[in-house]
Amino acid sequence: MKSDRRITNLIITGFSGTGKSLVAMEVALRLNWDFLDTDDEIVKQTGKPIAEIFSQDGEDSFRELEREMIRKACQQWQTVIAIGGGAIVDPQNYELLAKTGLIVCLEAKPETIYERLFREAARGPETEVRPLLANDDNPLERIRQLKASRQPHYAKADWTIHTDGLSVSEVAEEVIRASRLLRRCAPRNDKEKARSGIDKDIVCLVKTATQSYPIFVGYGLLEKLGEKMKQAALSGTATIISDENVFSLYGSKVEGILKHAGFAVNSFVVPPGEETKSMEYAIKIYDFLVEHRTERDDIIIALGGGMVGDLAGFVAATFLRGMPWIQVPTSLVAMVDASIGGKVGVNHPEGKNLIGDFYQPNLVLADPQTLTTLPQRELISGWAEVIKHGMILDEEFVQFLESNVNRLTKLEPELLTRAIASSAAIKAQVVSQDEKEKEGKRTVLNYGHTIAHGLEAATQYKRFLHGEAVAIGMVGAAKLSQRLGLLSSAAVERQQALLQKFGLPTVFSGLGLTEITRAMELDKKTKGKAIRWVLLQDIGRVTMLSDVSQRDVLAILQELAES
Ligand SMILES: NC(=O)c1ccc[n+]([C@@H]2O[C@H](COP(=O)([O-])OP(=O)(O)OC[C@H]3O[C@@H](n4cnc5c(N)ncnc54)[C@H](O)[C@@H]3O)[C@@H](O)[C@H]2O)c1
Ligand SMILES: [Zn+2]
Repeated sequence: MKSDRRITNLIITGFSGTGKSLVAMEVALRLNWDFLDTDDEIVKQTGKPIAEIFSQDGEDSFRELEREMIRKACQQWQTVIAIGGGAIVDPQNYELLAKTGLIVCLEAKPETIYERLFREAARGPETEVRPLLANDDNPLERIRQLKASRQPHYAKADWTIHTDGLSVSEVAEEVIRASRLLRRCAPRNDKEKARSGIDKDIVCLVKTATQSYPIFVGYGLLEKLGEKMKQAALSGTATIISDENVFSLYGSKVEGILKHAGFAVNSFVVPPGEETKSMEYAIKIYDFLVEHRTERDDIIIALGGGMVGDLAGFVAATFLRGMPWIQVPTSLVAMVDASIGGKVGVNHPEGKNLIGDFYQPNLVLADPQTLTTLPQRELISGWAEVIKHGMILDEEFVQFLESNVNRLTKLEPELLTRAIASSAAIKAQVVSQDEKEKEGKRTVLNYGHTIAHGLEAATQYKRFLHGEAVAIGMVGAAKLSQRLGLLSSAAVERQQALLQKFGLPTVFSGLGLTEITRAMELDKKTKGKAIRWVLLQDIGRVTMLSDVSQRDVLAILQELAES
Protein backbone atom coordinates (compact mmCIF):
# COMPACT_ATOMS: atom_id res chain seq x y z
CA MET A 1 0.00 0.00 0.00
CA LYS A 2 1.38 3.38 -0.95
CA SER A 3 2.28 5.50 2.05
CA ASP A 4 0.55 8.65 0.79
CA ARG A 5 -2.68 6.78 0.58
CA ARG A 6 -5.63 8.06 2.55
CA ILE A 7 -8.01 5.31 3.45
CA THR A 8 -10.87 7.04 5.12
CA ASN A 9 -13.38 6.04 2.45
CA LEU A 10 -14.59 2.58 1.47
CA ILE A 11 -15.32 2.06 -2.18
CA ILE A 12 -17.58 -0.71 -3.38
CA THR A 13 -17.13 -1.75 -6.98
CA GLY A 14 -18.20 -4.75 -9.05
CA PHE A 15 -20.44 -5.56 -11.96
CA SER A 16 -24.02 -4.32 -11.87
CA GLY A 17 -26.30 -6.66 -10.03
CA THR A 18 -23.71 -7.65 -7.46
CA GLY A 19 -25.60 -5.64 -4.83
CA LYS A 20 -23.12 -2.77 -4.46
CA SER A 21 -25.62 -0.14 -3.48
CA LEU A 22 -27.49 -2.14 -0.84
CA VAL A 23 -24.28 -3.49 0.61
CA ALA A 24 -22.68 -0.06 0.73
CA MET A 25 -25.75 1.31 2.47
CA GLU A 26 -25.67 -1.48 5.05
CA VAL A 27 -21.93 -1.02 5.68
CA ALA A 28 -22.41 2.73 6.12
CA LEU A 29 -25.19 2.12 8.59
CA ARG A 30 -23.10 -0.29 10.65
CA LEU A 31 -20.01 1.91 10.69
CA ASN A 32 -22.06 5.06 11.17
CA TRP A 33 -20.42 6.44 8.05
CA ASP A 34 -21.98 8.38 5.20
CA PHE A 35 -23.27 6.60 2.11
CA LEU A 36 -23.08 7.70 -1.49
CA ASP A 37 -24.04 5.95 -4.73
CA THR A 38 -22.56 7.63 -7.78
CA ASP A 39 -25.28 6.33 -10.14
CA ASP A 40 -28.00 7.66 -7.82
CA GLU A 41 -26.23 10.99 -7.54
CA ILE A 42 -26.07 11.29 -11.33
CA VAL A 43 -29.80 10.61 -11.56
CA LYS A 44 -30.44 13.21 -8.86
CA GLN A 45 -28.21 15.79 -10.50
CA THR A 46 -29.53 15.42 -14.05
CA GLY A 47 -33.11 14.59 -13.13
CA LYS A 48 -32.99 11.80 -15.73
CA PRO A 49 -32.93 8.03 -15.37
CA ILE A 50 -29.62 6.57 -16.50
CA ALA A 51 -31.23 4.79 -19.46
CA GLU A 52 -32.42 8.16 -20.71
CA ILE A 53 -28.96 9.72 -20.40
CA PHE A 54 -27.61 6.85 -22.49
CA SER A 55 -30.34 7.05 -25.12
CA GLN A 56 -30.47 10.84 -25.37
CA ASP A 57 -26.90 11.94 -24.72
CA GLY A 58 -24.84 8.81 -25.37
CA GLU A 59 -22.49 6.71 -23.25
CA ASP A 60 -19.61 9.21 -23.47
CA SER A 61 -21.73 11.86 -21.90
CA PHE A 62 -22.67 9.47 -19.06
CA ARG A 63 -19.00 8.59 -18.47
CA GLU A 64 -18.15 12.27 -18.26
CA LEU A 65 -20.84 12.82 -15.62
CA GLU A 66 -19.56 9.77 -13.82
CA ARG A 67 -15.98 11.05 -13.78
CA GLU A 68 -17.15 14.31 -12.27
CA MET A 69 -19.20 12.47 -9.66
CA ILE A 70 -16.28 10.21 -8.71
CA ARG A 71 -14.06 13.23 -8.28
CA LYS A 72 -16.59 14.79 -5.90
CA ALA A 73 -17.12 11.51 -4.06
CA CYS A 74 -13.38 11.22 -3.47
CA GLN A 75 -13.46 14.51 -1.58
CA GLN A 76 -15.63 12.89 1.09
CA TRP A 77 -14.40 11.46 4.38
CA GLN A 78 -15.67 8.36 6.13
CA THR A 79 -18.06 7.59 3.34
CA VAL A 80 -19.00 4.26 1.82
CA ILE A 81 -19.16 4.91 -1.90
CA ALA A 82 -20.90 2.58 -4.34
CA ILE A 83 -19.64 3.28 -7.83
CA GLY A 84 -21.11 2.34 -11.20
CA GLY A 85 -19.94 -1.02 -12.57
CA GLY A 86 -17.91 0.52 -15.39
CA ALA A 87 -16.40 3.44 -13.47
CA ILE A 88 -13.24 1.66 -12.43
CA VAL A 89 -12.33 0.92 -16.07
CA ASP A 90 -11.36 4.56 -16.50
CA PRO A 91 -7.71 4.88 -15.36
CA GLN A 92 -8.26 8.40 -14.06
CA ASN A 93 -11.15 7.22 -11.88
CA TYR A 94 -9.16 4.26 -10.63
CA GLU A 95 -6.17 6.35 -9.66
CA LEU A 96 -8.29 8.79 -7.70
CA LEU A 97 -10.31 6.07 -5.99
CA ALA A 98 -7.23 4.07 -5.06
CA LYS A 99 -5.63 7.13 -3.52
CA THR A 100 -8.56 7.98 -1.30
CA GLY A 101 -10.14 4.72 -0.26
CA LEU A 102 -10.02 0.99 0.09
CA ILE A 103 -11.60 -0.67 -2.90
CA VAL A 104 -13.71 -3.74 -2.31
CA CYS A 105 -15.05 -5.60 -5.34
CA LEU A 106 -18.27 -7.61 -5.17
CA GLU A 107 -18.19 -10.65 -7.43
CA ALA A 108 -21.06 -12.79 -8.69
CA LYS A 109 -21.55 -15.37 -11.41
CA PRO A 110 -23.07 -14.08 -14.66
CA GLU A 111 -26.14 -16.23 -13.96
CA THR A 112 -26.66 -14.59 -10.57
CA ILE A 113 -26.23 -11.19 -12.13
CA TYR A 114 -28.69 -12.04 -14.89
CA GLU A 115 -31.13 -13.20 -12.29
CA ARG A 116 -30.81 -10.05 -10.19
CA LEU A 117 -30.88 -7.64 -13.12
CA PHE A 118 -33.71 -9.15 -15.11
CA ARG A 119 -35.86 -11.41 -12.95
CA GLU A 120 -35.90 -8.75 -10.28
CA ALA A 121 -35.98 -5.93 -12.80
CA ALA A 122 -39.06 -4.31 -11.38
CA ARG A 123 -37.39 -3.62 -8.03
CA GLY A 124 -33.82 -4.04 -9.17
CA PRO A 125 -31.35 -1.19 -9.21
CA GLU A 126 -31.10 1.32 -11.97
CA THR A 127 -27.60 0.91 -13.25
CA GLU A 128 -25.45 1.88 -16.14
CA VAL A 129 -25.27 -1.67 -17.42
CA ARG A 130 -28.97 -2.01 -18.16
CA PRO A 131 -28.88 0.29 -21.22
CA LEU A 132 -25.90 -1.65 -22.49
CA LEU A 133 -27.97 -4.84 -22.38
CA ALA A 134 -31.23 -3.30 -23.45
CA ASN A 135 -31.33 -4.40 -27.05
CA ASP A 136 -29.55 -7.67 -26.77
CA ASP A 137 -31.08 -11.01 -27.82
CA ASN A 138 -28.86 -12.91 -25.45
CA PRO A 139 -28.35 -10.74 -22.38
CA LEU A 140 -26.71 -13.51 -20.38
CA GLU A 141 -24.01 -13.89 -23.00
CA ARG A 142 -23.59 -10.15 -23.20
CA ILE A 143 -23.18 -9.99 -19.40
CA ARG A 144 -20.49 -12.67 -19.68
CA GLN A 145 -18.59 -10.73 -22.32
CA LEU A 146 -18.91 -7.35 -20.71
CA LYS A 147 -17.92 -8.73 -17.34
CA ALA A 148 -14.93 -10.55 -18.79
CA SER A 149 -13.75 -7.36 -20.45
CA ARG A 150 -13.91 -5.53 -17.13
CA GLN A 151 -12.37 -8.31 -15.06
CA PRO A 152 -8.77 -7.02 -15.26
CA HIS A 153 -9.99 -3.76 -13.77
CA TYR A 154 -11.99 -5.41 -11.00
CA ALA A 155 -8.87 -7.40 -10.21
CA LYS A 156 -7.16 -4.22 -9.07
CA ALA A 157 -9.46 -3.95 -6.04
CA ASP A 158 -7.89 -4.40 -2.61
CA TRP A 159 -10.30 -7.20 -1.75
CA THR A 160 -12.88 -9.31 -3.55
CA ILE A 161 -15.97 -10.91 -2.07
CA HIS A 162 -17.96 -13.62 -3.81
CA THR A 163 -21.55 -12.74 -3.17
CA ASP A 164 -23.38 -15.70 -4.75
CA GLY A 165 -25.63 -17.19 -2.13
CA LEU A 166 -24.89 -14.52 0.48
CA SER A 167 -27.43 -12.06 1.87
CA VAL A 168 -26.82 -8.32 1.83
CA SER A 169 -26.04 -8.33 5.52
CA GLU A 170 -23.59 -11.21 5.15
CA VAL A 171 -21.77 -9.38 2.38
CA ALA A 172 -21.74 -6.18 4.45
CA GLU A 173 -20.17 -8.11 7.31
CA GLU A 174 -17.50 -9.42 4.97
CA VAL A 175 -16.78 -5.90 3.71
CA ILE A 176 -16.31 -4.63 7.25
CA ARG A 177 -14.11 -7.57 8.15
CA ALA A 178 -12.01 -6.98 5.04
CA SER A 179 -11.67 -3.28 5.71
CA ARG A 180 -10.56 -3.97 9.29
CA LEU A 181 -8.00 -6.45 8.08
CA LEU A 182 -6.74 -4.10 5.42
CA ARG A 183 -6.53 -1.05 7.55
CA ARG A 184 -5.56 -2.93 10.71
CA CYS A 185 -8.22 -0.97 12.45
CA ALA A 186 -7.65 0.64 15.82
CA PRO A 187 -3.88 0.92 15.62
CA ARG A 188 -2.39 1.36 19.06
CA ASN A 189 0.17 4.06 18.44
CA ASP A 190 1.35 6.61 15.92
CA LYS A 191 3.82 4.24 14.34
CA GLU A 192 1.10 1.71 13.72
CA LYS A 193 -1.21 4.39 12.51
CA ALA A 194 1.39 5.56 10.02
CA ARG A 195 1.95 2.01 8.83
CA SER A 196 -1.74 1.30 8.49
CA GLY A 197 -2.26 4.41 6.42
CA ILE A 198 -4.57 6.12 8.90
CA ASP A 199 -3.75 9.79 9.02
CA LYS A 200 -2.43 10.57 12.50
CA ASP A 201 -2.77 14.31 11.98
CA ILE A 202 -6.57 14.13 11.91
CA VAL A 203 -7.94 15.30 15.21
CA CYS A 204 -11.56 14.73 14.41
CA LEU A 205 -14.12 14.79 11.68
CA VAL A 206 -17.02 17.14 11.33
CA LYS A 207 -19.84 14.97 10.07
CA THR A 208 -22.90 16.76 8.80
CA ALA A 209 -25.79 15.60 6.65
CA THR A 210 -24.16 17.12 3.60
CA GLN A 211 -20.47 16.49 4.15
CA SER A 212 -17.76 15.02 6.30
CA TYR A 213 -14.43 16.74 6.60
CA PRO A 214 -11.34 16.44 8.74
CA ILE A 215 -9.79 18.89 11.14
CA PHE A 216 -6.03 18.59 11.28
CA VAL A 217 -4.16 20.13 14.19
CA GLY A 218 -0.40 19.87 14.42
CA TYR A 219 2.58 21.98 15.40
CA GLY A 220 4.39 22.84 12.16
CA LEU A 221 1.66 21.20 10.11
CA LEU A 222 1.50 24.10 7.67
CA GLU A 223 4.32 22.35 5.82
CA LYS A 224 1.91 19.56 4.94
CA LEU A 225 -0.89 21.75 3.60
CA GLY A 226 -0.27 20.86 -0.05
CA GLU A 227 0.02 17.18 0.77
CA LYS A 228 -3.25 17.16 2.71
CA MET A 229 -5.02 18.94 -0.11
CA LYS A 230 -3.82 16.39 -2.62
CA GLN A 231 -4.92 13.57 -0.35
CA ALA A 232 -8.35 15.22 -0.29
CA ALA A 233 -8.43 14.88 -4.08
CA LEU A 234 -8.18 18.61 -4.62
CA SER A 235 -6.38 19.97 -7.64
CA GLY A 236 -6.26 23.07 -9.81
CA THR A 237 -5.52 26.64 -8.88
CA ALA A 238 -5.53 27.69 -5.25
CA THR A 239 -6.48 31.27 -4.43
CA ILE A 240 -5.17 32.31 -1.04
CA ILE A 241 -7.25 34.94 0.71
CA SER A 242 -5.51 36.55 3.63
CA ASP A 243 -5.15 39.83 5.46
CA GLU A 244 -2.06 42.05 5.37
CA ASN A 245 -0.82 41.05 8.83
CA VAL A 246 -1.05 37.33 8.27
CA PHE A 247 0.04 37.40 4.65
CA SER A 248 3.18 39.38 5.46
CA LEU A 249 4.14 36.63 7.93
CA TYR A 250 3.01 33.45 6.20
CA GLY A 251 1.98 34.36 2.64
CA SER A 252 5.12 33.48 0.77
CA LYS A 253 5.67 30.37 2.87
CA VAL A 254 2.20 29.04 2.06
CA GLU A 255 2.54 29.98 -1.60
CA GLY A 256 5.79 28.03 -1.73
CA ILE A 257 4.29 24.97 -0.01
CA LEU A 258 1.38 24.89 -2.44
CA LYS A 259 3.52 25.38 -5.52
CA HIS A 260 5.83 22.65 -4.36
CA ALA A 261 2.81 20.34 -4.16
CA GLY A 262 1.92 21.17 -7.74
CA PHE A 263 -0.82 23.75 -7.30
CA ALA A 264 -0.99 26.97 -9.28
CA VAL A 265 -1.35 29.79 -6.77
CA ASN A 266 -2.91 33.27 -6.72
CA SER A 267 -3.17 35.45 -3.65
CA PHE A 268 -5.58 38.20 -2.71
CA VAL A 269 -4.69 40.24 0.33
CA VAL A 270 -7.20 42.41 2.21
CA PRO A 271 -6.71 44.95 5.01
CA PRO A 272 -6.95 43.51 8.53
CA GLY A 273 -9.91 44.34 10.76
CA GLU A 274 -13.59 43.60 11.07
CA GLU A 275 -14.57 46.36 8.59
CA THR A 276 -13.12 44.24 5.79
CA LYS A 277 -15.71 41.54 6.42
CA SER A 278 -18.12 43.23 4.04
CA MET A 279 -19.93 42.87 0.71
CA GLU A 280 -17.53 45.48 -0.63
CA TYR A 281 -14.56 43.18 -0.12
CA ALA A 282 -16.48 40.09 -1.19
CA ILE A 283 -17.10 41.84 -4.51
CA LYS A 284 -13.43 42.78 -4.81
CA ILE A 285 -12.56 39.11 -4.40
CA TYR A 286 -15.19 38.05 -6.97
CA ASP A 287 -13.61 40.50 -9.41
CA PHE A 288 -10.20 39.01 -8.76
CA LEU A 289 -11.51 35.47 -9.29
CA VAL A 290 -13.24 36.44 -12.53
CA GLU A 291 -10.12 38.19 -13.76
CA HIS A 292 -8.05 35.08 -13.04
CA ARG A 293 -10.59 32.80 -14.75
CA THR A 294 -11.19 30.80 -11.61
CA GLU A 295 -13.15 27.63 -12.25
CA ARG A 296 -15.51 25.58 -10.14
CA ASP A 297 -12.94 22.94 -9.29
CA ASP A 298 -10.34 25.45 -8.16
CA ILE A 299 -9.81 26.05 -4.47
CA ILE A 300 -10.16 28.96 -2.08
CA ILE A 301 -7.83 28.99 0.89
CA ALA A 302 -8.70 31.14 3.90
CA LEU A 303 -5.39 31.95 5.56
CA GLY A 304 -5.95 34.05 8.67
CA GLY A 305 -8.16 34.69 11.65
CA GLY A 306 -11.94 34.43 11.84
CA MET A 307 -12.47 37.58 9.81
CA VAL A 308 -10.67 36.12 6.80
CA GLY A 309 -12.34 32.72 7.31
CA ASP A 310 -15.86 34.17 7.33
CA LEU A 311 -15.18 36.39 4.31
CA ALA A 312 -13.31 33.84 2.19
CA GLY A 313 -15.86 31.14 3.07
CA PHE A 314 -18.68 33.43 2.01
CA VAL A 315 -16.97 33.98 -1.33
CA ALA A 316 -16.34 30.22 -1.71
CA ALA A 317 -20.02 29.50 -0.97
CA THR A 318 -21.30 31.95 -3.53
CA PHE A 319 -18.79 32.15 -6.37
CA LEU A 320 -19.88 29.81 -9.19
CA ARG A 321 -22.52 28.53 -6.73
CA GLY A 322 -19.88 27.08 -4.48
CA MET A 323 -16.28 25.97 -4.82
CA PRO A 324 -14.03 23.79 -2.69
CA TRP A 325 -12.39 25.69 0.15
CA ILE A 326 -9.98 25.19 2.97
CA GLN A 327 -9.63 26.85 6.31
CA VAL A 328 -6.11 27.55 7.54
CA PRO A 329 -6.90 29.37 10.80
CA THR A 330 -4.05 31.39 12.28
CA SER A 331 -5.67 32.95 15.37
CA LEU A 332 -6.70 31.01 18.46
CA VAL A 333 -10.34 32.06 18.00
CA ALA A 334 -10.29 30.80 14.44
CA MET A 335 -8.59 27.49 15.34
CA VAL A 336 -11.03 26.46 18.05
CA ASP A 337 -14.15 28.26 16.94
CA ALA A 338 -14.57 30.22 13.71
CA SER A 339 -13.06 27.66 11.34
CA ILE A 340 -15.33 24.85 12.54
CA GLY A 341 -18.98 24.55 11.66
CA GLY A 342 -19.32 26.13 8.25
CA LYS A 343 -20.84 29.46 9.26
CA VAL A 344 -19.66 31.95 6.66
CA GLY A 345 -20.71 35.51 6.06
CA VAL A 346 -20.12 39.22 5.99
CA ASN A 347 -21.35 42.14 8.06
CA HIS A 348 -24.04 44.62 7.03
CA PRO A 349 -23.77 48.27 8.14
CA GLU A 350 -26.82 47.57 10.34
CA GLY A 351 -25.49 44.47 12.02
CA LYS A 352 -22.74 41.91 12.34
CA ASN A 353 -22.92 38.68 10.31
CA LEU A 354 -26.30 39.60 8.81
CA ILE A 355 -25.47 38.13 5.38
CA GLY A 356 -24.26 34.58 5.21
CA ASP A 357 -24.76 30.88 4.80
CA PHE A 358 -23.68 27.49 6.07
CA TYR A 359 -20.98 26.16 3.80
CA GLN A 360 -18.61 23.52 5.07
CA PRO A 361 -14.94 23.56 4.05
CA ASN A 362 -13.23 20.51 2.53
CA LEU A 363 -10.74 20.48 5.35
CA VAL A 364 -9.42 22.56 8.22
CA LEU A 365 -5.70 22.66 8.96
CA ALA A 366 -4.56 24.42 12.13
CA ASP A 367 -0.89 24.90 12.91
CA PRO A 368 -0.50 26.19 16.51
CA GLN A 369 3.01 27.36 15.65
CA THR A 370 1.43 30.32 13.87
CA LEU A 371 0.13 31.54 17.25
CA THR A 372 3.65 32.57 18.20
CA THR A 373 3.14 35.73 16.13
CA LEU A 374 -0.42 36.48 17.24
CA PRO A 375 -0.65 39.69 19.32
CA GLN A 376 -0.93 38.88 23.04
CA ARG A 377 -4.35 40.45 23.52
CA GLU A 378 -5.80 38.42 20.61
CA LEU A 379 -4.28 35.28 22.06
CA ILE A 380 -5.75 35.86 25.51
CA SER A 381 -9.13 36.59 23.96
CA GLY A 382 -9.01 33.23 22.20
CA TRP A 383 -8.54 31.35 25.48
CA ALA A 384 -12.05 32.43 26.49
CA GLU A 385 -13.62 30.20 23.81
CA VAL A 386 -11.27 27.34 24.74
CA ILE A 387 -12.32 27.60 28.38
CA LYS A 388 -15.95 27.90 27.32
CA HIS A 389 -15.79 24.55 25.51
CA GLY A 390 -14.59 22.89 28.70
CA MET A 391 -17.12 24.64 30.92
CA ILE A 392 -20.11 23.53 28.86
CA LEU A 393 -19.17 19.97 28.02
CA ASP A 394 -15.95 18.62 29.44
CA GLU A 395 -14.87 18.88 33.07
CA GLU A 396 -11.75 16.81 32.43
CA PHE A 397 -10.63 19.32 29.84
CA VAL A 398 -11.15 22.10 32.40
CA GLN A 399 -8.86 20.20 34.78
CA PHE A 400 -6.27 19.92 32.03
CA LEU A 401 -6.41 23.68 31.45
CA GLU A 402 -6.18 24.38 35.20
CA SER A 403 -3.13 22.19 35.59
CA ASN A 404 -1.28 23.68 32.64
CA VAL A 405 -2.07 27.41 32.57
CA ASN A 406 1.55 28.50 32.71
CA ARG A 407 2.79 26.16 30.05
CA LEU A 408 -0.17 26.93 27.81
CA THR A 409 0.17 30.67 28.03
CA LYS A 410 3.85 30.23 27.18
CA LEU A 411 2.72 28.36 24.05
CA GLU A 412 4.56 25.17 24.87
CA PRO A 413 4.12 23.23 21.61
CA GLU A 414 2.88 19.87 22.80
CA LEU A 415 0.39 21.11 25.37
CA LEU A 416 -0.80 23.96 23.18
CA THR A 417 -1.50 21.51 20.36
CA ARG A 418 -3.37 19.23 22.74
CA ALA A 419 -5.49 22.07 24.08
CA ILE A 420 -6.41 23.27 20.60
CA ALA A 421 -7.13 19.77 19.36
CA SER A 422 -9.44 19.03 22.31
CA SER A 423 -11.22 22.33 22.08
CA ALA A 424 -11.71 22.00 18.30
CA ALA A 425 -13.02 18.48 18.80
CA ILE A 426 -15.66 19.70 21.26
CA LYS A 427 -16.90 22.30 18.80
CA ALA A 428 -16.82 19.76 15.96
CA GLN A 429 -18.92 17.36 17.98
CA VAL A 430 -21.54 19.99 18.70
CA VAL A 431 -21.85 21.30 15.15
CA SER A 432 -21.96 17.79 13.71
CA GLN A 433 -25.20 17.27 15.58
CA ASP A 434 -26.80 20.45 14.31
CA GLU A 435 -25.29 21.57 11.02
CA LYS A 436 -27.57 24.51 10.36
CA GLU A 437 -28.38 25.59 13.89
CA LYS A 438 -31.94 24.36 13.54
CA GLU A 439 -32.18 21.83 16.28
CA GLY A 440 -31.06 24.02 19.12
CA LYS A 441 -28.09 21.79 19.87
CA ARG A 442 -25.62 24.48 18.87
CA THR A 443 -27.16 26.80 21.43
CA VAL A 444 -24.85 25.43 24.14
CA LEU A 445 -22.00 27.23 22.34
CA ASN A 446 -23.70 30.51 23.25
CA TYR A 447 -22.69 30.09 26.88
CA GLY A 448 -21.46 33.50 28.05
CA HIS A 449 -22.54 35.10 24.79
CA THR A 450 -25.82 36.71 25.85
CA ILE A 451 -24.13 39.21 28.15
CA ALA A 452 -21.10 39.34 25.82
CA HIS A 453 -23.24 40.50 22.89
CA GLY A 454 -24.82 43.10 25.17
CA LEU A 455 -21.40 44.40 26.23
CA GLU A 456 -20.07 44.44 22.66
CA ALA A 457 -23.09 46.20 21.19
CA ALA A 458 -23.32 48.73 24.04
CA THR A 459 -19.72 49.72 23.30
CA GLN A 460 -20.15 49.70 19.49
CA TYR A 461 -17.81 46.71 19.24
CA LYS A 462 -14.90 49.02 20.03
CA ARG A 463 -13.95 48.39 23.60
CA PHE A 464 -13.84 44.61 24.05
CA LEU A 465 -12.34 41.90 21.96
CA HIS A 466 -14.97 39.20 21.55
CA GLY A 467 -13.26 36.76 23.94
CA GLU A 468 -12.93 39.44 26.61
CA ALA A 469 -16.67 40.09 26.46
CA VAL A 470 -17.31 36.33 26.50
CA ALA A 471 -15.18 35.91 29.63
CA ILE A 472 -17.24 38.52 31.48
CA GLY A 473 -20.39 36.97 30.04
CA MET A 474 -19.35 33.55 31.34
CA VAL A 475 -18.85 34.92 34.82
CA GLY A 476 -22.32 36.49 34.54
CA ALA A 477 -23.92 33.27 33.31
CA ALA A 478 -22.31 31.28 36.12
CA LYS A 479 -23.39 33.78 38.77
CA LEU A 480 -26.90 33.70 37.32
CA SER A 481 -26.85 29.91 37.47
CA GLN A 482 -25.87 30.15 41.12
CA ARG A 483 -28.55 32.74 41.88
CA LEU A 484 -31.15 30.42 40.36
CA GLY A 485 -29.95 27.59 42.54
CA LEU A 486 -28.38 25.55 39.76
CA LEU A 487 -24.68 25.93 40.45
CA SER A 488 -22.48 25.93 43.52
CA SER A 489 -20.49 29.00 44.52
CA ALA A 490 -17.34 26.86 44.39
CA ALA A 491 -17.91 26.21 40.70
CA VAL A 492 -18.48 29.91 40.04
CA GLU A 493 -15.20 30.71 41.75
CA ARG A 494 -13.37 27.93 39.97
CA GLN A 495 -14.38 29.29 36.58
CA GLN A 496 -13.52 32.85 37.56
CA ALA A 497 -10.07 31.82 38.79
CA LEU A 498 -9.31 30.00 35.54
CA LEU A 499 -10.36 32.95 33.39
CA GLN A 500 -8.20 35.27 35.47
CA LYS A 501 -5.18 32.98 35.24
CA PHE A 502 -5.38 33.19 31.47
CA GLY A 503 -5.42 37.00 31.80
CA LEU A 504 -9.09 37.47 30.92
CA PRO A 505 -11.30 40.16 32.44
CA THR A 506 -14.16 39.11 34.71
CA VAL A 507 -15.77 42.49 35.39
CA PHE A 508 -16.47 45.70 33.46
CA SER A 509 -16.67 49.37 34.33
CA GLY A 510 -18.09 52.65 33.09
CA LEU A 511 -21.21 51.26 31.45
CA GLY A 512 -24.87 51.84 32.27
CA LEU A 513 -26.77 48.64 32.94
CA THR A 514 -29.77 49.67 30.85
CA GLU A 515 -27.49 50.21 27.84
CA ILE A 516 -26.42 46.61 28.17
CA THR A 517 -29.88 45.12 28.67
CA ARG A 518 -31.22 47.14 25.74
CA ALA A 519 -28.44 45.84 23.55
CA MET A 520 -29.17 42.31 24.76
CA GLU A 521 -32.83 42.67 23.75
CA LEU A 522 -31.83 43.95 20.33
CA ASP A 523 -29.57 40.97 19.76
CA LYS A 524 -31.07 39.62 16.52
CA LYS A 525 -31.56 36.04 17.62
CA THR A 526 -33.66 36.91 20.64
CA LYS A 527 -35.89 39.64 19.24
CA GLY A 528 -39.56 39.10 20.03
CA LYS A 529 -38.77 36.04 22.13
CA ALA A 530 -37.56 35.52 25.63
CA ILE A 531 -33.78 35.30 25.86
CA ARG A 532 -32.66 31.69 25.98
CA TRP A 533 -30.04 31.57 28.70
CA VAL A 534 -27.31 28.98 28.56
CA LEU A 535 -26.47 28.17 32.17
CA LEU A 536 -24.36 25.70 34.10
CA GLN A 537 -25.45 22.95 36.47
CA ASP A 538 -21.89 21.98 37.10
CA ILE A 539 -18.54 22.43 35.42
CA GLY A 540 -18.95 20.58 32.12
CA ARG A 541 -22.74 20.35 32.42
CA VAL A 542 -24.86 22.84 30.63
CA THR A 543 -28.59 23.61 30.79
CA MET A 544 -30.96 26.04 29.08
CA LEU A 545 -33.54 28.35 30.60
CA SER A 546 -35.91 30.86 28.98
CA ASP A 547 -37.84 32.38 31.86
CA VAL A 548 -35.18 34.32 33.68
CA SER A 549 -36.54 37.52 35.21
CA GLN A 550 -35.19 40.94 34.30
CA ARG A 551 -34.64 41.53 38.02
CA ASP A 552 -32.26 38.58 38.29
CA VAL A 553 -30.37 39.66 35.17
CA LEU A 554 -29.99 43.21 36.43
CA ALA A 555 -28.75 41.95 39.78
CA ILE A 556 -26.05 39.95 38.01
CA LEU A 557 -25.01 42.85 35.78
CA GLN A 558 -24.76 44.93 38.93
CA GLU A 559 -22.35 42.37 40.37
CA LEU A 560 -20.25 42.41 37.21
CA ALA A 561 -20.06 46.21 37.12
CA GLU A 562 -16.93 47.29 38.90
CA SER A 563 -17.74 50.08 41.24
N1 LIG B 1 -17.89 31.47 11.63
C1 LIG B 1 -17.96 31.31 12.92
O1 LIG B 1 -18.53 30.33 13.41
C2 LIG B 1 -17.30 32.32 13.81
C3 LIG B 1 -17.11 32.03 15.17
C4 LIG B 1 -16.43 32.96 15.95
C5 LIG B 1 -15.99 34.14 15.40
N2 LIG B 1 -16.22 34.40 14.07
C6 LIG B 1 -15.75 35.63 13.45
O2 LIG B 1 -14.33 35.64 13.52
C7 LIG B 1 -13.88 36.99 13.60
C8 LIG B 1 -12.96 37.10 14.77
O3 LIG B 1 -11.86 36.24 14.55
P1 LIG B 1 -10.41 36.61 15.06
O4 LIG B 1 -10.48 36.86 16.50
O5 LIG B 1 -9.48 35.58 14.55
O6 LIG B 1 -10.18 38.02 14.38
P2 LIG B 1 -9.31 38.49 13.11
O7 LIG B 1 -9.44 37.56 11.99
O8 LIG B 1 -9.72 39.90 12.87
O9 LIG B 1 -7.82 38.42 13.66
C9 LIG B 1 -7.43 39.22 14.74
C10 LIG B 1 -6.14 39.95 14.41
O10 LIG B 1 -5.05 39.04 14.49
C11 LIG B 1 -4.28 39.09 13.29
N3 LIG B 1 -3.73 37.75 13.12
C12 LIG B 1 -4.40 36.61 12.89
N4 LIG B 1 -3.56 35.57 12.92
C13 LIG B 1 -2.32 36.06 13.17
C14 LIG B 1 -1.05 35.46 13.34
N5 LIG B 1 -0.89 34.14 13.33
N6 LIG B 1 0.00 36.27 13.56
C15 LIG B 1 -0.18 37.62 13.64
N7 LIG B 1 -1.36 38.22 13.51
C16 LIG B 1 -2.42 37.45 13.28
C17 LIG B 1 -5.24 39.57 12.25
O11 LIG B 1 -4.56 40.18 11.18
C18 LIG B 1 -6.09 40.56 13.03
O12 LIG B 1 -5.44 41.78 13.09
C19 LIG B 1 -15.11 37.86 13.70
O13 LIG B 1 -15.42 38.37 12.43
C20 LIG B 1 -16.19 36.88 14.14
O14 LIG B 1 -17.47 37.28 13.73
C21 LIG B 1 -16.84 33.50 13.29
ZN1 LIG C 1 -17.82 33.48 20.50
